[in-house]
Amino acid sequence: MTARVYTETADPDLRPEDVPRRPAHGTALFVRPSHFQVLYRINPHMTGRADPAVATEQWQTVVDVYDDYATDVEVLDPSTLYEQTLRDGPKPAPAPERLPDMVFCANQSMPHPTEKRVLLSHMATRERMAEVEYLRAWYESEGYAVEQLDTQATFEGMGDALWYPGRELVVGGYGFRSERRAYEELSERFDVPVVMLKLTLEDCYHLDVCLSLLDEETALLYPGALTDAGVETLQSLVDTVIEVPREEAIEGFACNAHSIDGQHVVLQRGNPETVRKLHDHGFEPIEVDTSEFMKAGGSVFCMKLMLP
Ligand code: ARG
Repeated sequence: MTARVYTETADPDLRPEDVPRRPAHGTALFVRPSHFQVLYRINPHMTGRADPAVATEQWQTVVDVYDDYATDVEVLDPSTLYEQTLRDGPKPAPAPERLPDMVFCANQSMPHPTEKRVLLSHMATRERMAEVEYLRAWYESEGYAVEQLDTQATFEGMGDALWYPGRELVVGGYGFRSERRAYEELSERFDVPVVMLKLTLEDCYHLDVCLSLLDEETALLYPGALTDAGVETLQSLVDTVIEVPREEAIEGFACNAHSIDGQHVVLQRGNPETVRKLHDHGFEPIEVDTSEFMKAGGSVFCMKLMLP
């Protein structure tokens, strides 16, 4: 498949089944929430304070679920990464106390689906920029070829750029954090098609807040966060779109769910309609509590990064 970007059109001349297969992700990467807190407000959810002790317990429960269902789990410690940045980085990075959103490790990078290569993010907000240097240090120590965008475009990794299940195809959200130009470059670099979807609602500032691709045929979606053309584009890609009601999407982070293996779907608890619909479509929901992280604007999907 050649590199190409698609904007919202009701019928992109693209069929996921025509795109080359990619192997399933094998490792779930996590960053310990050792300095997690809500210290600034860069999305509309960030209005209160989080309880660090409760957050740590909730995070551990999520990691344990992945331990049970994913092939491998890798946990990074911000202090260790910080030391690595001091040893290897071009200039001293800020200390981990100043990076309270590090735990959302879907955002700082996007690994290549098959090669040991990674594209680092260019965060849209000043508050989160230095997190990328922490991840760079880790990837370098692991022997990855580390790449950066040539364009000045902002790009927030796998919070906005979602791999289509089983295929070398990306569905990318833009409008709040990531820019369209970033997807043009991503598409060229990784030689994959990218279907771009415009985000229209600030509560869903990342694509993973309104969309989760569950398997090759099914997506979980809050349609109110996309344009009509965007919803139609998605409908033309997947057979079944499971619609999530507004309240469960915005207050319950129901779409920030992750289908670990195309069967088990980890999601925030307290979303009864989404859970019922998942059951109806043959999925097995695994409900966890990420309430403290939701106060920062994230839940299950963005608390991990899937590595090939
Ligand atoms: N406070 C973080 C931010 O606004 C939360 C990121 C959550 N990540 C996600 N992919 N939804 O950037």
